[in-house]
Amino acid sequence: MRPESINLNDLSADISSCGIKWNILYFEELESTNSTALELARSGAPQGTVVLANGQRMGRGRLGRTWSSEPGKNLTFTALLRPEVAIQNIGLLPLLAGVAVQETVAAITGQSTVCKWPNDVLLEGGKVCGILCESTIVDGAITAVVVGIGLNVNQLEFPKDIPTSPVSLASTMKRAFNRTVVLAGVLTRLDRWYARFVGGEIESVLNAWRASSPMIGSTITVERDGIPVRGTALDVAADGSLIVAVGGQTVHIHAGDVSLHTDYAHASRH
Ligand code: BTN
Repeated sequence: MRPESINLNDLSADISSCGIKWNILYFEELESTNSTALELARSGAPQGTVVLANGQRMGRGRLGRTWSSEPGKNLTFTALLRPEVAIQNIGLLPLLAGVAVQETVAAITGQSTVCKWPNDVLLEGGKVCGILCESTIVDGAITAVVVGIGLNVNQLEFPKDIPTSPVSLASTMKRAFNRTVVLAGVLTRLDRWYARFVGGEIESVLNAWRASSPMIGSTITVERDGIPVRGTALDVAADGSLIVAVGGQTVHIHAGDVSLHTDYAHASRH
């Protein structure tokens, strides 16, 4: 499969009607689009700045992990946002971004796609996208959030040592996809959900996430104080935390990994 380049003119045209004026900064290679976006945020870059790299030397994942992505095949980009919302709702951004990606992948492939808390998107049970949100804080206030998205599009082979069963649109659908179209789809939906979020429609964001994830009500394993415990996922809260029933207690999980049991990974949401 020949790597196809992202067409910045087509992209600009496709996203021109968004409320956010996306400004795409394209790089052939970067260490990490999140790191560059954080630097830009600190030096005053406006909301809507998008750092897009064809390849990353040191892509970063959640919980100090690395994000590996074959150059020229996938999407690795970071959107800089400056949300003026109550600080306790900032944790909804990764969920909102997950919904934007999940909707895009579902629309483009027509296949089963789900959100997995906190911010993975699964396609036919394999991880097709990871999201890493990071903030800049000045005097205790969040001044920017960078939303880093790694979406596997045309990569066909993945390193064997990745435990999350990575897939791409192409590995699942057995055909190549136009990265420009996929990126435009994500930015358009991110724009739409973000407008609702900053407009105070917190419940509608939560409902979209709930609708995209069959996780609620299912048995999961979460880490508490480093110890894996089994519980039932009850809901997501307005701060983005996962509410879990564990041994007669109700607890809010704010970060960490959740393992799912049995059929969740192949459950269907379109
Ligand atoms: C995860 O699943 O652990 C999150 C992975 C996030 C990867 C993306 S790729 C674009 C952006 N730049 C980075 O360095 N990381 C994020």
